[in-house]
Amino acid sequence: MVWIEFMTQESSQCTPETMPDPEGVFRARFGRKPGWIAAAPGRVNLIGEHVDYNDGLVLPMAIDRSCHVAGGPNDSNEFVIYSAQRDEEARFSLDDMSPEPTGSFGDYFRGIIAGFQTRGHEVPGFQAALSSDVPIGSGLSSSAALEVAAATFIEAMLGIELAPLEKALLCQQAEQKFVGVPCGLMDQYASVFGKSDQLILLDCETEESRYVPFDDPAVGVLVINSNVHHQLDDGQYALRRQQCEAAAARLGLLSLRHLSPEDFENRSAELEPIELRRVRHVISENERTKAAAEAIARRDWRLTGDLMFQSHSSLRDDYQVSCDELDAIVELCRTIGEEGGVHGCRMTGAGFGGCAIALIRADQTDIIAARVSEEYGRLTGIKPTLFTTRPAEGARVIG
Ligand code: GLA
Repeated sequence: MVWIEFMTQESSQCTPETMPDPEGVFRARFGRKPGWIAAAPGRVNLIGEHVDYNDGLVLPMAIDRSCHVAGGPNDSNEFVIYSAQRDEEARFSLDDMSPEPTGSFGDYFRGIIAGFQTRGHEVPGFQAALSSDVPIGSGLSSSAALEVAAATFIEAMLGIELAPLEKALLCQQAEQKFVGVPCGLMDQYASVFGKSDQLILLDCETEESRYVPFDDPAVGVLVINSNVHHQLDDGQYALRRQQCEAAAARLGLLSLRHLSPEDFENRSAELEPIELRRVRHVISENERTKAAAEAIARRDWRLTGDLMFQSHSSLRDDYQVSCDELDAIVELCRTIGEEGGVHGCRMTGAGFGGCAIALIRADQTDIIAARVSEEYGRLTGIKPTLFTTRPAEGARVIG
C-alpha cells in the first residue's frame, strides 16, 4: 500500500507506520512471549452496498490493513484481552457468555468464544493483545477484522482449522448476537477469503463466491476517509434491514433477491412509498454489481466508474444512508472526472460517514489526492485521510 501523507486527524487511529507491534504489546502487558499471532484484514466494497442482508451480490476486497491478535493460554477459565488501539482491557470468564451486548470490545471475543463452544470446541482461558491499523468506525470493517483475527488466533491455539465459510459465519453470528448489529455476511467473508489482486464476487444467497481479477497496474483504489461519523448508524442500519424485510414479506417473497427488475416494475404499486425507494436501491444495486463484475473483467474502467457513481446516487437518494460529507467527496471526484483521472467514486460500507472509495488512474494518484484533500478541507473544515489500497490476502497466522 502506498500511504499518502496528508493528515491523520484522529490520533487514536493507527496507520501502518504507527501501529504498535502486536508481539511487543503482548509482552509489555503480560510479561511473556505470545504463543500465536493472527492477523485479519479490513475491507472495502467496490460495489454492492446494503444488499448482503437481502441475499444480494457484493464485490468487496480485503485491504492491506489488519487487526492483529497476539496471545496464549493462561491455565485458567479467565479471558483477559488488552486493546492497544483503545488502551482498554476486557476481562470475563466462561460464566459471562450470555449473548447480551455490554458495549465493551470484549463482546466480540465473548461472541467468538461462544461460537467455538457451540461448535463443540472447548476454549481454554487466555491472555491476548490487540493491535490494529484498520481505522475504527470508518466503514472499513474494523469489527469484522477483529472478529476474524480472534477466531484465527483461537483456531491456532486449539490446533484446528474451521472450514473458511464456517469461520465467516461464526464471526457474523458473534457480531449479530453479542454486539447487537444485524449485519450481513460480506465483511467477515471478505476478511476470511481475501486474495491479492482479486475482488470477491459473493452471492449472499448461496454463500458462494468467485474471484474477479483486479490487477491492472494502470488503476488504483483511493480510500478517502471523510473523518466524520454520524451517530445514527446502528439504529438506521437495523431500520433499513427491517424495511427491506417488510417489503419482501408484503410481496410474499423470502427475500428481495427473488424480485426481478421486471417484477419490481409490475408490483411497485403494492409497496409503501418508503419501501419503494429501499427496494429500488436493492434491485438496481444487484444489477449494477453484476454489470461491474463483467466490466472489471474486461478492464472497462469507464463503465465500472459510472456504475460506482450511480451506486452512490442510489444510496444517497433511495436508500438514504449517505451524508453531506460523503456526497461532497463524490461530487469533487465527479468534477475531476475522467479527464482528471477519476473513473468513479462512491461511499463504501454502512454509510452515515466513514469512507468513500474512488477508482482512479494510478499515474494521477498524487494530483487527485491533493486536490480532494484540499477542496474537501475547504468545503467542510475537516481534513480527510487518504490512502491507496489493493486487494490483499485474508486472515492468517503470522507468528
Ligand atoms: C456493514 C455490514 C455489512 C453490509 C454493509 C453495507 O458493513 O456489516 O454486512 O451490510 O454494512 O453494505
